[in-house]
Amino acid sequence: MGIKRIGVLTSGGDAPGMNAAIRSVVRTANFHGIEVMGIFKGFEGLINGKMKILNHRSVSNIINKGGTILKTARSIKFTTVEGRKRAYGVVKKRKIGGLVLIGGNGTYRGGLAFHKEWGIPCIGVPGSIDNDINHTDFTIGADTAVNTALEAIDKIKDTATSMERIFVIEVMGRNSGYIAVNVALGSGAENVLIPEKRTEIKQICRDILKGNRKGKVSWIVVVAEGKAKAYEVAAGIGLTTGLETRVVSIGHIQRGGSPTAADRILATRLGEKAVDLLKSGQGGKAIGIIRNKISVVDLSKAIEEKREDVNALCRLIDILA
Ligand code: F6P
Repeated sequence: MGIKRIGVLTSGGDAPGMNAAIRSVVRTANFHGIEVMGIFKGFEGLINGKMKILNHRSVSNIINKGGTILKTARSIKFTTVEGRKRAYGVVKKRKIGGLVLIGGNGTYRGGLAFHKEWGIPCIGVPGSIDNDINHTDFTIGADTAVNTALEAIDKIKDTATSMERIFVIEVMGRNSGYIAVNVALGSGAENVLIPEKRTEIKQICRDILKGNRKGKVSWIVVVAEGKAKAYEVAAGIGLTTGLETRVVSIGHIQRGGSPTAADRILATRLGEKAVDLLKSGQGGKAIGIIRNKISVVDLSKAIEEKREDVNALCRLIDILA
């Protein structure tokens, strides 16, 4: 007997494209005659039983919307055995045969523990602006976040050049320099500071002064939030170079907004695959995209630290500065 009802939730930091993934899960499942329970506020909803059946109409006109209609949260309770036990009780009571978990590393860790302890099939769908999940080239939301930050930096560059200033711009990325490196490349920034790479502020100052002697009057330094505090970086640069420095933190603007085409398409493809896996009796898996093909790995593999070689991109930023 096949699976009759699945649950879907979004957990952790929201990311543009999560709604497109929810829509795809609901409509794919309904197409195959499977009912979908939308679970609110991530694992919290699973513990508290906050959920409702979603149908074709419930997910109309959300493919282009940022955020998540299911709301999201980071659940401390679900990190405990007791919390997961309560969630299991709810899953059984509501006759949910499998779960699609859309989120980042924390979401995957919760799903893996739940799957191991209670045998509930869980499929992880990568949703995070940070693009920091292993075994996928992209996570849902990263492309939109990069484009949002890029648009902001383009505007900052207008004032930076007009007033001949140095701008230190902080972008998101707690443990990952993905957004920082890509917006630095895309905006033509002169420097980038990321958690994955050691960078000497002194060297940046030397470069700025060298450029300044040749007549270069404005400068963009992109900092990933996980690397350093933009205010401290700016203070250091200002003090050493004597040039006028300003700070901008783009912040949570990067998490919102209508998803790009790339994020909508990725989310839609991944949503379908998640349902297919549950339908074929699989669980404990994470899906992703590698060289434009949908990939499937064990959740335990997907939570391993993602190690990307960013050296070539950083070198390119230096060459083009
Ligand atoms: O979603 C990931 C992320 O955007 C990180 O880059 C950032 O550190 C974090 O979320 C901030 O989220 P919050 O303000 O919700 O804690």
